[in-house]
Order: sequence, then structure tokens, then C-alpha cells
Amino acid sequence: MTETDFVLDQYSQIDSGSHTWSSPSNIALVKYWGKKDNQIPANSSISFTLDNCKTVTTLRYSKKDHADDFSFEVFLDGDKKDSFKPKIETFFKRIEAYVPFLRDYHFVIETANTFPHSSGIASSASGMSALALCLMSIEKELIGANVILSEAEESYFIKKASFLARLGSGSACRSIEGDLVVWGEHQDIQGSSDLFGVKYPFEVHKNFKNYQDTILLVDKGEKQVSSTVGHGLMHNHPFAEERFKQAHDNLSTLINVFKAGDLDTFISIVESEALTLHAMMMASMPYFILMKPNTLEIINKIWVFRQETGSKVCFTLDAGANVHVLYPEAECEQVCEFIKNELVAHCQNGQYICDQIGFGARLMKNE
Ligand code: DP6
Repeated sequence: MTETDFVLDQYSQIDSGSHTWSSPSNIALVKYWGKKDNQIPANSSISFTLDNCKTVTTLRYSKKDHADDFSFEVFLDGDKKDSFKPKIETFFKRIEAYVPFLRDYHFVIETANTFPHSSGIASSASGMSALALCLMSIEKELIGANVILSEAEESYFIKKASFLARLGSGSACRSIEGDLVVWGEHQDIQGSSDLFGVKYPFEVHKNFKNYQDTILLVDKGEKQVSSTVGHGLMHNHPFAEERFKQAHDNLSTLINVFKAGDLDTFISIVESEALTLHAMMMASMPYFILMKPNTLEIINKIWVFRQETGSKVCFTLDAGANVHVLYPEAECEQVCEFIKNELVAHCQNGQYICDQIGFGARLMKNE
């Protein structure tokens, strides 16, 4: 599919309505770090969709008299949030060609996250995917589609929602579906695309079923490096080309890992990806250290615990200090004890979030 497949021209007129979607966050195993123009990723990535960490967004729309500037208000947990407006304005500009009805309506965006507001957990993936899905529900009404879509229509809806979400925030395109999603063209993964995320199409061993992710909140402060700046650091980065190739190779290796249930190779790829992401930031100009002393304490304790017990627990990081502790469902009891006894002491105010693999976004309400 190409961009033009997402341009329709058969919109009808509807005065007002509202849609509510719940959409989850996701955690990358192979990281997206570096992008080209128009939110095209420099390398393919793969993520686990999460279950409990999500954003619920209601989008109310009412017809305006004149189709002039974008017109919208944003509320987070019931409070007006003007600081979100520039990001949404940018999003609207990027997607306007694909949802041309945007200027015809006034929108009220009411959004809430299930995770603590200032937890340092990025809400852009869940937030942008929820908003993209709400817009797709409007499009569905405006093109007069049946409530129940055919298989082909459903597939178009999901792909376009992911396509729009990507234009809001790259990683958001991996939040529409579950439980494993690939984004970025990859020679070994048929149907993979730079334009949208697709469900991982191959066999996944039962070892990965209900995989657990406990997110340790090490530093809940504002992000030190915005994702825009972060991705920009990969331009003219001395190690960029090798890094993009490595991500590609890691994704190829994961195909056999998922099939065979090979947890040891899974651990080495996932941890190496996390550390490489941070290494890229340390080696860029300007350079950043986003880990905190407690991030390293936690990593070291995970390594010791693994060595002593033979556990298959491992960690990954996003572009910050928080640690995602990943482990098989079968080890839940043992690893949760370890987290409570040894790791929680390194979290800010002892805060952590228990999550696991989820199955994607859900429509909550149409009005
Ligand atoms: C480190 O998706 O937040 O989490 O496209 O600029 O919005 P933008 O970037 P964003 O970057 C996420 C980077 C990451 C790795 C990943 O999720 O793959």
C-alpha cells in the first residue's frame, strides 16, 4: 500500500457525534530510533503491546459554519490542557490530506491515562493511537460504512488508524493491535511497511504467551530529551548506519527466537537493544545520559538474580531512566517477590506498574 491508498473522496455530511477509544502503550523489543522525513523510520522495530497502560479518549465533533482553521480543545482528566495543543496541531497538519474533514468540525478531545500522569511513561503512543482511532470512527460514519465492517474494510480501518497514528508519533502506530507488532519494512516479514504497523505474522512459542512487564518508575521527571530531538541525534551520527543494520538483523534473529521459544537469545537481543539505544544517545552530539544511578542498580540486580536463580527475567528501557522488567508468565511469583524485595527500593516513591502483553485498542462508545 502507498500513501494515496489512504485518501478517500466520498465523505457525506454529519452534524455532530462522539467516539471513545481505549488504546494501549507498547514497549519496543527492537527499538525505533532515527527517522526520515514524514515519520518514516530509519529501521524496522517490533514491540509488545501492553494491556494496563492505556489512554482513553473521547472525541466530540460538531460542524462549524466555516471550514477555516483547525478548531479544538483538549482536556486531560477533565482539566483543560492547552500545553497539548501544539502537538495536536502538528498532528492535524500532517494528517489533513488523509482526513480532509478536519477543518469542517470543532473538536473536543477528552483524554485520560490509566498510568500516573507524571510517571515519565510516554503517553504519546497510547494517546496518538486513541485519537487516530477516534478520527477513523468519524471517517467510518462520514463514508456511510456499515456498523459491522467486512474483513477487507476492517483491515483498511486498522491500517489507516495505524498510518494516522504514526504521523502523530512513530511508536503509536504499533499500539492499534496486539500482541506483537512490527513497524518498518523488513525483508523477512511479508506485509511489513514503513507506513503502518502490522501484526507479527509468524508462529510464537507458548513461552511468550502473557509475557509480563513490570515498569519500575525510577525517575518521574519531565523527559530530558524529547523524541523529536532524540531521533534527530541519529542524523550524521557516526554509528547510525551500523545501528540501523543491527536493528534489522536483530529482528531477523527474533523470528527464530519466537518460534523456538528461545528465551536466552531473546534476553540477549532485548537487553542489547536497550543498551544500544542509550549508547547511541551517549555517543551523539550533543550527548545525553538518560539512565540514573538507580537504573544501573536495577540492571545489575537483575543480572545477579538471573545468574543465581537461572530465571529468564530481563530488562528493557525506553528513552529515559525507567526500567521495564520483562519475564515469562510462569515466573510471575518468583520474579514479583524479587521485584518487591530488591528492586522497588530503587523506584521513586516505591512506584511501579504491573503490566503484561495486551491485544490492542478497543472501541468503548459511539454516540
Ligand atoms: C525509544 O515514537 O516517541 O520509545 O515519532 O518522534 O513521536 P516520535 O518518536 P517516538 O519514539 C519512540 C522511541 C523509543 C523506541 C520505540 O518505541 O521503538
